[in-house]
Amino acid sequence: MKYFLMIPGPVEIADEILDAYQGQPVAHYGPEWTKEYLDIIKRVSKILGSEGMTFLMPGSGSICLDTAAASFCTSKRCLVINNGMFGDRLYNIVSAHTSDVEILKFPLNVPADPDAVKKALSEREYDAVFMTHVETSTSVLNPVKEVVNIVKEHGALFVLDAISSAVIEKLEMDSWGIDITVTACQKGFECPAGLGIITVRSDLLNALQDTPATTWYTDLRVWCDFYDKWHDWHPFPVTLPTNTIMALKKSIEIIETEGLSFRQRMFGEISSRLRKALLSFGLEMYAPEGHHAHGLTAASTGGKFDPSDLLGYLKKTVGIQISGSFGDLKSHVFRIGHMSKKQCSNIILVSLLNGIALFMRSRGLKVPLEEAVGMLIQQPQDGGML
Ligand SMILES: Cc1ncc(COP(=O)(O)O)c(C=O)c1O
Repeated sequence: MKYFLMIPGPVEIADEILDAYQGQPVAHYGPEWTKEYLDIIKRVSKILGSEGMTFLMPGSGSICLDTAAASFCTSKRCLVINNGMFGDRLYNIVSAHTSDVEILKFPLNVPADPDAVKKALSEREYDAVFMTHVETSTSVLNPVKEVVNIVKEHGALFVLDAISSAVIEKLEMDSWGIDITVTACQKGFECPAGLGIITVRSDLLNALQDTPATTWYTDLRVWCDFYDKWHDWHPFPVTLPTNTIMALKKSIEIIETEGLSFRQRMFGEISSRLRKALLSFGLEMYAPEGHHAHGLTAASTGGKFDPSDLLGYLKKTVGIQISGSFGDLKSHVFRIGHMSKKQCSNIILVSLLNGIALFMRSRGLKVPLEEAVGMLIQQPQDGGML
């Protein structure tokens, strides 16, 4: 049942974070907890590059996508930029709150094209535009900064699904002009699943729409009400998972100590090395050059084998669990998650590569394992072994 996780979230978690997660719960209210909470939400905003307000909501990332749509888009006209399964998810969520929603669709391995966004926004006025930063089903990294520039020129709200990108990819919410960023704790923040995270530009909260949302839990006005009225002892409306939030606090401490740019450089280097190693095995990268996510890698088998056979083999031989993909990609794409520091250690990456090589050799395919390991592992002169 327990394999070393190299799926694109949840991730393998640092021991210090796990230690912080364990233990008896504490009261989710009162001055001591409130002080912790207010400090943590400020630090989360900072990591996302925002002076805005962060809300931690029990649930997963989707609850915060739902919150963004419920709070800002009820009966509004929305555009969803979609190049994959999680773009479909965004469309479904937004459609639950407004019937006036359109999709700007791109093929699965094609990043969102800013010119096409420009064209769509000049043909019709939209109140809000939604997009994923990293489309986790394909590992395509979308050009957020360029797209936001265009959306801002047209005066629409921009909502970013950063569930697979926060902490991992460069993301500067305020200076790029992103109005709302949604993420979750189980990927780049390296926590057990259980928290959705939504960060909102502060002045937007003062201007929450007049149309009443049709929900209570996912209506940010309710969260703002509690923040104001019960600010000193219970600045949120529901019971929060205090253990998960303590894990998040530890994760934030680690990120702050190491530095966000160090982390992002590490993910950048690991993903680039892994791509080279997999290419040397004759595998293909699913995302196009220049648009690879850095916390996961999607490789195509080019019809040489069925990904599900590889997944089973890796579990059995090296105890590592990777992922397949969805829909039509299922037959030829597999995905490797490397969103936490533990997943990026040499020993794990080499075991994984070794497992893939053994599997491919068992299928009569020639793979240069030794050379690939040389490409993959970080040498001491690069600043120490991970
Ligand atoms: C890009 C993206 N959006 C949305 C989701 C859904 O997030 P959750 O399962 O935390 O609700 C995921 C989950 O993997 C994701 O990767």
